[in-house]
Amino acid sequence: MSKSFFTLDDFSFDGKTTLVRIDINAPVDPETGVPKDVTKIERHGKTLLELSEKGAKVVVLSHQGRKGERDFVSLKEHARLANEILGIEVKYVDDVCGEKAVSAIKSLRDGEVLLLENVRFIDEETSVKTIEEQLKTDLVRNLSSVSDIYVNDAFPAAHRTHTSLIAFTEVLPSAAGRVMEAEIKALSSIMDDPERPCVYLLGGAKVDDSFKVAEHALELGIADKVLPVGLLAILMVHAKGVDIGDVNRQLIDSKGGFGYLDKMRKLIDRFNDKIEVPADFAIEENNERVEVTVDSFPVNAPVKDIGEETISKFKEVLLDARTIVVNGPAGVYEDERFSKGTVELFKAVGDSRAFSLAGGGHTLEALKKFGLDSKISYVSTGGKAMLALLAGESLPAIEALKKAYLRSLQSRV
Ligand code: 3PG
Repeated sequence: MSKSFFTLDDFSFDGKTTLVRIDINAPVDPETGVPKDVTKIERHGKTLLELSEKGAKVVVLSHQGRKGERDFVSLKEHARLANEILGIEVKYVDDVCGEKAVSAIKSLRDGEVLLLENVRFIDEETSVKTIEEQLKTDLVRNLSSVSDIYVNDAFPAAHRTHTSLIAFTEVLPSAAGRVMEAEIKALSSIMDDPERPCVYLLGGAKVDDSFKVAEHALELGIADKVLPVGLLAILMVHAKGVDIGDVNRQLIDSKGGFGYLDKMRKLIDRFNDKIEVPADFAIEENNERVEVTVDSFPVNAPVKDIGEETISKFKEVLLDARTIVVNGPAGVYEDERFSKGTVELFKAVGDSRAFSLAGGGHTLEALKKFGLDSKISYVSTGGKAMLALLAGESLPAIEALKKAYLRSLQSRV
């Protein structure tokens, strides 16, 4: 990967006020505001501790939840947990960019860390659209006036064009934090030069995301095999002309899957040898798991897992792989009767010698539930952002860092 943005290695942080955009957005208890998952706080800890050790005055920005939703809460409890997890004092101020925040920033000493309030409490974060307008916001003007360097570590939000993600790079020397750097490195290594065979295991309930990733990986010759599971698998079976039954058609319709049907047919035709469409599934009948082959479709019950024959075939492919990308469980893993496909395939990913990359909320939840997360080589903090990169899209926050890097090189010439 050739260098295209600055990292923490490229600046001296001693005594510098460093504005760090992280993403510690997590499911929270809406009554107490306490995050239920601290994985992101742990991961960003690396960046924050490094900056603190290097003598920076560390000013931290993050969002939490979306306006109008129950998880749209203060970051006070996040600061308390960050204290415990990082093992250093993480100060907190209930202001994003007003006088209180600016005064707290000005009184920081070298090495100290201050978490500002949820940046989405300020409408300027999400509602100001053009970069020119973003540069005129209080958010950018007030915080950049008291900062020397901007660090973006918020990979999970990198697909957003929100003010704190793309505007500070225009006015401050800017670098990627350690999480951002690691994510880009892991994803680029797969997309640029994966060790072969390279297998994509794609499932879950978001057919559109899985389809775009599969399409990109096949068209660019990144994936040698695509193993569709979850809803993507049912849609592929349907695309091959099999009658999947009303219940399953409705299921796919409710997720907007039919919008991809024509493209899906073309993809299957072009890459028939690389897409392994499941030969059997599990459905629920009289409260039991019942295995059905695709030959015996249509079925009158929703498909809830892949079947035994598919599980054993897919396991063989995964155990033989040298690179594996995982997104999405194979079925309704929350229900013990239908967790088999997810457990067996995720175990095979962990047992293989492949470099494995996994991401996405449900995938990580399932990996943790079955105690398999430590067996994955690289667990991405990004859901949508990871999928967008894997689908070949460019992410605004990363583009902003690249632009800042180029601008800096040009100004030296
Ligand atoms: C995430 O959790 O995926 C990121 O924090 C982005 O959150 P958003 O979808 O609310 O922008």
